Amino acid sequence: IRCHSAKTNAPKPKMNLLDNASNLLTNFLSGGRMGSMPMAEGAVSDLFGRPLFFALYDWFLEHGSVYKLAFGPKAFVVVSDPIVSRHILRENALSYDKGVLAEILEPIMGKGLIPADIDTWKQRRRVIAPGFHALYLEAMVKVFTDCSERTMLKFEKLLAGEGRKGGKTIELDLEAEFSSLALDIIGLGVFNYDFGSVTKESPLIKAVYGTLFEAEHRSTFYIPYWKFPLAKWLVPRQRKFQKDLKFINDCLDDLIRNAKETRQETEIEQLQKRDYLKLKDASLLRFLVDMRGADVDDCQLRDDLMTMLIAGHETTAAVLTWAVFLLAQHPSKMKKAQAEIDSVLGQRRITIESIKKLEYIRLVVVETLRLYPQPPLLIRRSLKSDKLPGGHKGDNNGYAIPAGTDIFLSVYNVHRSPYLWDNPNDFEPERFLVKRVSQGIEGWAGFDPSRSPGALYPNEIMSDFAFLPFGGGPRKCVGDQFAFMESTIALAMLLQEFDIELKGSPESVEIVTGATIHTKNGLWCRLMKRQDIQSL
Ligand code: HEM
Repeated sequence: IRCHSAKTNAPKPKMNLLDNASNLLTNFLSGGRMGSMPMAEGAVSDLFGRPLFFALYDWFLEHGSVYKLAFGPKAFVVVSDPIVSRHILRENALSYDKGVLAEILEPIMGKGLIPADIDTWKQRRRVIAPGFHALYLEAMVKVFTDCSERTMLKFEKLLAGEGRKGGKTIELDLEAEFSSLALDIIGLGVFNYDFGSVTKESPLIKAVYGTLFEAEHRSTFYIPYWKFPLAKWLVPRQRKFQKDLKFINDCLDDLIRNAKETRQETEIEQLQKRDYLKLKDASLLRFLVDMRGADVDDCQLRDDLMTMLIAGHETTAAVLTWAVFLLAQHPSKMKKAQAEIDSVLGQRRITIESIKKLEYIRLVVVETLRLYPQPPLLIRRSLKSDKLPGGHKGDNNGYAIPAGTDIFLSVYNVHRSPYLWDNPNDFEPERFLVKRVSQGIEGWAGFDPSRSPGALYPNEIMSDFAFLPFGGGPRKCVGDQFAFMESTIALAMLLQEFDIELKGSPESVEIVTGATIHTKNGLWCRLMKRQDIQSL
């Protein structure tokens, strides 16, 4: 089958001789083995003016859940199926590395977990993953609530200032506010550093944003010009990037040195006894230095911290941004969420116990991650030839792929697949509220709770990869529970105190994407102090 994209009347990119030769070579090398895979031939113009994952969704509906996409000499396999995703992420995970993504991220994250090759990753994952244990997460609840409280206090002060002028509302870019909040949380949680970015600016904060900006630029720029010799000295934005990177790395080196120098036996004992609530510094860095000994390799540690700083910051900020965007368009769901908060918390502070009772808020976070997965695409490259299984619809018998195949696994497509979800594009946290009981365990509709008993949030195991916001298999996000709890707490604390409206129309909130899905010009909202709080 050789399907053609619906956009055949769109102008095709002009190809030169080199492109044609390269195309012939690509087809020759792969044609025999991937020959029967449906093919979407995109025009480069399809990609301008809208994020790539939108185009990949249209082609998914047209060509099916596994298709090949060729842009001039470049070819990718696009996967939008849970069974094929499970195969790549879990069953045959170690036959794939991060391919293009690693090439983009390595200059920033070095050999940190996300871009790391398989051998490096095996060693590091063993060191880092144990740091995210249940008691650490429990200790983090205080960090999440303290930092969120600081954000709410800032909003209250702004409202009080407005009140003195007779106004009752403030207008804010909530995306920027969430970004500051998430940065403060990741700084304290991962390396016990208070960026204080909710209330101030600093050269370090500017350097962090500069680096994130560059990571995003690189993930959307098709020619890796930064790899050209001298580019890092001659191109001004590359010079700035090198400066920002050095600034952050120097700060991380200082934090690591300090953690090593302040290593104390009493703290180590408390850590070993898992006496987390008594610890002054419960950060991941403390755990890694104390439990792994002072001889842990500094460069490795720095790459790990940098990776977590970037991986855990914009992702969570994006979840909060889109949760508010969706709730603001559904005032009845916003009220329902606030009613739950009033009945569970009243005016009290949130605790780990109350998170368990805030089911609707948790499902708002879950539904937001379904509609706006961060990142929307996972990237892989096959290290050896492989056979992809047939998809869940049974419309093909699977495809052979050669070594070196670049794959886009579209989580966005899986999460909005009309073959998996009713009304896939609608915001319906209620869809999970219909209960299902399996082997005596109660869970959410469409998910098998017996596969993941006790889970507070739906996951890829119980949904058999139909819902995979944190990936799956051995390279699944290490910070998933951290992020779920952080988002639930921040959202609950915001809705506990404020009513929120979008400032403009939903359509005016333009979507752009780099590593995460975010807005073009911010999420501008009007905030009012809630009048209808029903205290217990
Ligand atoms: C990996 C999503 C928060 C650290 C991943 C992956 C996804 C993801 C989808 C898998 C990438 C792949 O397979 O290619 C998210 C989302 C977050 C979030 C949606 C917030 C809502 C965090 C936080 C941390 C973190 C808070 C750390 C504190 C990591 C690391 C990896 C990772 C280290 C690499 C794991 C490995 O390869 O072994 N994340 N993440 N993430 N995430 Fe997260």
